[in-house]
Amino acid sequence: MSVRQLFVTTALPYANGNFHIGHIMEYIQADIWVRAQRMQGHQVYFVGADDAHGAPIMIAAEKVGKTPQQFVADIAQGRQQYLDGFHVAFDNWHSTDGPENHALAKEIFLELQKEGLITTKTIEQFFDPEKSMFLPDRFIKGECPKCGSQDQYGDSCENCGAVYSPTELKNPRSTLSGATPVLKTSEHYFFKLSDPKCLAFLQTWTQDGKLQSEVANKVREWLTPDEEGKSGLGDWDISRDAPYFGIEIPNAPGKYFYVWLDAPIGYLASLKNYFDKGGPKARGDARSFEQYMNDEKVEQYHFIGKDITYFHTLFWPATLHFSHRKTPNNVFVHGFITVSGEKMSKSRGTGIDPLKFLSLGMNPEWMRYYIAAKLNAKVEDIDFNPEDFVARVNADLIGKFINIASRSAGFISKRFEGKMGHLSEEGAALVQHLQQSAGHIATSFEQREFGKVLRDIMLLADRVNEYVDAHKPWELAKHADQAAQLHQVCSACIESFRLLSLYLKPVLPALVREVEGFLQVAPMDFASAQTILGQGHEIGVYKHLMQRVDPLMMDKLFEAPEATSASVPAPAAPAHQGAGDPGGTAIEGVIGIEDFSKVDLRIALITHCESVPGSTKLLRLELDVGEEKTRQVFSGIAAHYKPEDLIGKLTVMVANLAPRKMKFGASEGMVLAASHGNEKEHPGVFVLSPWPGAQAGMRIR
Ligand code: MSP
Ligand code: ZN
Repeated sequence: MSVRQLFVTTALPYANGNFHIGHIMEYIQADIWVRAQRMQGHQVYFVGADDAHGAPIMIAAEKVGKTPQQFVADIAQGRQQYLDGFHVAFDNWHSTDGPENHALAKEIFLELQKEGLITTKTIEQFFDPEKSMFLPDRFIKGECPKCGSQDQYGDSCENCGAVYSPTELKNPRSTLSGATPVLKTSEHYFFKLSDPKCLAFLQTWTQDGKLQSEVANKVREWLTPDEEGKSGLGDWDISRDAPYFGIEIPNAPGKYFYVWLDAPIGYLASLKNYFDKGGPKARGDARSFEQYMNDEKVEQYHFIGKDITYFHTLFWPATLHFSHRKTPNNVFVHGFITVSGEKMSKSRGTGIDPLKFLSLGMNPEWMRYYIAAKLNAKVEDIDFNPEDFVARVNADLIGKFINIASRSAGFISKRFEGKMGHLSEEGAALVQHLQQSAGHIATSFEQREFGKVLRDIMLLADRVNEYVDAHKPWELAKHADQAAQLHQVCSACIESFRLLSLYLKPVLPALVREVEGFLQVAPMDFASAQTILGQGHEIGVYKHLMQRVDPLMMDKLFEAPEATSASVPAPAAPAHQGAGDPGGTAIEGVIGIEDFSKVDLRIALITHCESVPGSTKLLRLELDVGEEKTRQVFSGIAAHYKPEDLIGKLTVMVANLAPRKMKFGASEGMVLAASHGNEKEHPGVFVLSPWPGAQAGMRIR
């Protein structure tokens, strides 16, 4: 097999906000693909950058009193913690405001000009009479000229995907001042996409079968002439007047490239920056950026979301082709991620804050696994559903995969000095069956059918678990005369676990690095699927590889910062936590007895308990503290206790806590429970119960 050379990017995020879960999803998708390619021995350069230019960023910077350069630099500062946090391993991250991009954009423009594809036209453009500036498309809203949708931006319609100029909007208004914009003339530069040679090129490039079928169909609509025979493709306005944060157009003072002209050029700029910094050289590739890009064997791929298809399938390939450059081999378009069915806005993000996810101590590879499980090669939206997330991770990842190792590794260490044994015929057949899947799993990765990959891997895990259940190592271990069988069965389990880990490696890189350490093997790739550890190979001591998701954590993830809704105090890892702190939390400051006596603690009889529909976290308890009526208390212990286990038991409650209105009703007190300060590493919540003899209503002092 020949080594492919792949140049891979994700869309360049606007540098006016932090990453939201949509960005993270795109990076995870591309990162998995890149890792799978590398595991097949291919050479990949994977780069990203901030999309720095444009009027919105200029205006946002002005609002906070920063230069656009400073504003963008501050955003860029925050990127790495997300990328490292979710194990997204770009080879380089750059900015479209870097010198490489300024130079490349100008060069490309001059080449397009030489091709006769640049023209100027005096246009009438919207001008905000109150703000005294030409209005960027995004700051004009009105009705879509194609489908009539209300409240659409000036450049494209989020409803029908049409791209148009803002003057085509019906009932326009400036979102900066609310004023009705007035038309003012200005000379603009245009890329002549309507030129027949351009149309002919795009017809071929977009319809030759490389694009996803939904994408090709959409593009065909865009290319189809309307009833008046006018090409669907108009000339593309690529200039903006000062004041503008962008790249100045050569020989045109006061004119700047429209951000979408230089943004994709930023892909090349980031790669050039990587080359110029010596990245490829350090990896044994002595070529220059130019030599690399001129190599016909180099393949270029862009991962993008569906909203920016137009730019990537029409403008971008035309820009590259007519400036005599390599055009993308493909553009991989994904759908949008919603959270619990809710669409997220570009600016506001969603209910899931990626950094909060990480700071709660949630494992980023749970997220990678879950997103991968949902992804396929189509332009389909996917939904993040909290219950589904918990189920997939706990039932599949932990229940089916991790458990194979945890059920067998201990015996190898304790009983066989950590050495792998001989495989039985059945064990060898099982391992061989797993090995035979390497080819189609690699192919599914290549085709971006990640959901299918994970389903196939879990089917293999099912086979292994059936084998474990049929041979019951824990039973074999009880009989000294069955040591040989025990060794065989556990060895087959570990061999199988190695293969499953190998297949999951693009999705779970950090976990599998630990597995490689535990198995004492070199970094695995697809070729090593055809080997086995073999008899006599020594493995390390198994340490638990991955925690289950505690549904409590999910509740925390979605909790609004100010509204805590349960009575269990359990900060994930308090900042003041020190190594020697008992139970993971420092003892609170000293109080006098008078302070303590203000807290009225009572013995309470749990007369009734039930789960709360719509909450994975809460149980509803009815408590008798010797009053006329029972009290209703909601407690965040649903993950730890079944209602029927609590009914009829005595516990301790705070009886004089101000009642609190909660989503599901009023909570009239608080049940006491113990938990470790770091629940991730020390899971468990333990409700208090008094010694026998205590009666409901008795005070605790
Ligand atoms: N700056 C442009 C891209 C320029 S590429 C030369 C841009 N930036 S963006 O920050 O708005 O979006 C970056 C990427 O995130 C795009 O591919 C976009 O489709 C993707 N997503 C934005 N919201 C998303 C979801 N809700 N779900 C999945 N991807 C989403 O567009
Ligand atoms: Zn529309």
